[in-house]
Amino acid sequence: MPDTPPVIEIRDLHKSYGDLEVLKGVDITAHKGDVVSLIGSSGSGKSTLLRCANLLEDSQKGDILFKGEAVKWRGQGLNRRPADPKQVLRIRTNLSMVFQQFNLWAHMTILQNVMEAPLTVLGRNRGEVETAARAYLAKVGIGDKCDAYPAQLSGGQQQRAAIARALCMEPEALLFDEPTSALDPELEQEVVKVIKALAQEGRTMIIVTHDMKMAHDVSDHVVFLHQGLIEEQGPPDLLFGAPKSERLRGFLSSTSHAA
Ligand SMILES: Nc1ncnc2c1ncn2[C@@H]1O[C@H](COP(=O)(O)OP(=O)(O)O)[C@@H](O)[C@H]1O
Ligand SMILES: [Mg+2]
Repeated sequence: MPDTPPVIEIRDLHKSYGDLEVLKGVDITAHKGDVVSLIGSSGSGKSTLLRCANLLEDSQKGDILFKGEAVKWRGQGLNRRPADPKQVLRIRTNLSMVFQQFNLWAHMTILQNVMEAPLTVLGRNRGEVETAARAYLAKVGIGDKCDAYPAQLSGGQQQRAAIARALCMEPEALLFDEPTSALDPELEQEVVKVIKALAQEGRTMIIVTHDMKMAHDVSDHVVFLHQGLIEEQGPPDLLFGAPKSERLRGFLSSTSHAA
């Protein structure tokens, strides 16, 4: 779709924590319907990149565009901050994040967890939100868990609740940070299944994952990060089937699920 701007476009992004330069000029583009996976060793900057993309973290240089709209900054370098809080809220609520540790509220039922942000952040109508929340919970296969509390669910069910919560914001894109890493292998697959279904229905997603089989199966594009730079990227068949860089070959042979 060359005429519509990408949902997310990151250009030459630089991010430091004090003296530690974590992102050294990274470009990522996700058009509507694209699934982009980010792979790389621990510490390569994958989580930081996702957090910068939805403005949970500041960055020092480079551009972040949401549907063609560039984030407005004030200040420079370590003093650079987003200039427009309304713009930040609009972008952040349109790029819903799913975390490794689910981050559900322990004192709320699953249904309340899913309804919370649409009600309080978006100010949507309670009846409509409840209908949508129940539908998303059914969609991820836990429609019978609405009245349960997070502690009463398995890890795989909690993560699916977290995905329903992200979907209930009706975001333009979903950002996943290692969504299956905290799960036992047998529970991992139920979450992978949900992510595959979302990919098939044309959701725009950026997925940080250690699961090379999932990355291979769901992605349109895979990006291998190494020490804050893109070392290699391409379509999954090429990236996993014919990796060019020595570092990517080493990384893939060190991961157990290489496709
Ligand atoms: N809040 C922080 N303060 C200081 N250093 C951080 C912070 N978050 C991450 N880092 C550092 O940034 C680097 C990249 O981290 P991260 O983005 O979490 O990598 P990944 O997700 O690829 O494992 C690491 O060296 C990490 O220690
Ligand atoms: Mg990480």
